[in-house]
Amino acid sequence: MTNTPDSSIGLPRDQIDTPALLVDLDALEFNIDKLARHFQDTGKQLRPHTKSHKTPAIAHRQLAAGAIGITCAKVGEAEVMADAGIDDILIANEVVGTAKIRRLMQLAARCDIMVAVDAQDNLAALAAAAGEAGVRPRVLVEVDIGHQRCGASPGSCAVELSRLAASARHLRFSGLMGYQGHVVDLEDREQRESGTRQCLQRLVQTREEVERAGIEVAIVSTSATGDYYISTSYDGVTEVQAGSYALMDAAYAKLDLGFRNALSVLTMVTSRPTPDRVITDAGLKSVTPEHGMPEIKSSPSSTFDAVNLEVHALSEEHGRIRTLQGDSDLKVGDLLEFIPGHGCTTVNLHDELLAMRGDRVEEVWNIAARGKVR
Ligand SMILES: Cc1ncc(COP(=O)(O)O)c(C=O)c1O
Repeated sequence: MTNTPDSSIGLPRDQIDTPALLVDLDALEFNIDKLARHFQDTGKQLRPHTKSHKTPAIAHRQLAAGAIGITCAKVGEAEVMADAGIDDILIANEVVGTAKIRRLMQLAARCDIMVAVDAQDNLAALAAAAGEAGVRPRVLVEVDIGHQRCGASPGSCAVELSRLAASARHLRFSGLMGYQGHVVDLEDREQRESGTRQCLQRLVQTREEVERAGIEVAIVSTSATGDYYISTSYDGVTEVQAGSYALMDAAYAKLDLGFRNALSVLTMVTSRPTPDRVITDAGLKSVTPEHGMPEIKSSPSSTFDAVNLEVHALSEEHGRIRTLQGDSDLKVGDLLEFIPGHGCTTVNLHDELLAMRGDRVEEVWNIAARGKVR
């Protein structure tokens, strides 16, 4: 019998077909609760980035814990979240091109959508499409605060764009956003914190300049898992877009932020060609390596010594593990869990997330926004 999603509910871990993406519910709940508590007395809002889990069931838990709304990277992700009944959605990205702008306006007709903009042409296209569709979506002017990805330059360029956005009849200018992606995951705490402060300074200075031009700035949206706590004590910032904190991954774990690893890929040993070599069924099509190789999860019930094992390569469908010293006791058919180096892109490879309570599948969640890159 194959494991269809429904038939997986109630299964013990050792009967799950592999590779399978697992979420440890205790760890997920801990992470959601930890960040929600942090925000409680800050006067700032949390708008979690859902590109990290792409799963409406998790977004609903974040909202239930107090998040003001959610962040998405793509229109397709926002459509999935709107279909799941979520109303307040920021697309923290530029939406460009006739087809996507049309979809954005359709979304604006059924939920409170907010979109980033960093160019006058795009602003004009959004305004025209909104007028035609009879909607009035919110826009945030994206400011390049140091990441050198998208964003209008801080200062006069961002002020001028804000002025145009505020005067566009079919758009509601709501404020600014900036993302300091080049510093949020620096392992060196001091570098991360000082880098973030420099970037936030550019963002709030731009806010002041926009306000001096007589334009109200209701929202200043920024930051991620690695630097949320700086934004929540920074005057002028209003909300934070942290995403990875819910599931975490091996790269973020190195920052010692106090969140627990909730995400893993369950994988089975399929071959033991030599005593020091272990091959499993999870390769590049199950777990992504761009932020580092997966780490092997150890648990009190493990029958193997995880610290003596290292994933040293991934083929398409094979995880290649070697021992650091001596031989391994692992046998063909044994199960391991990989903690992905990068959770966000690993999630995007899977259709469903098996929500584990201890060693049992409690729920099966559809990763409904996976693959929604348009
Ligand atoms: C615009 C934007 N905001 C927020 C985040 C959230 O980052 P993290 O998953 O590191 O919390 C990202 C991540 O890529 C992003 O691109």
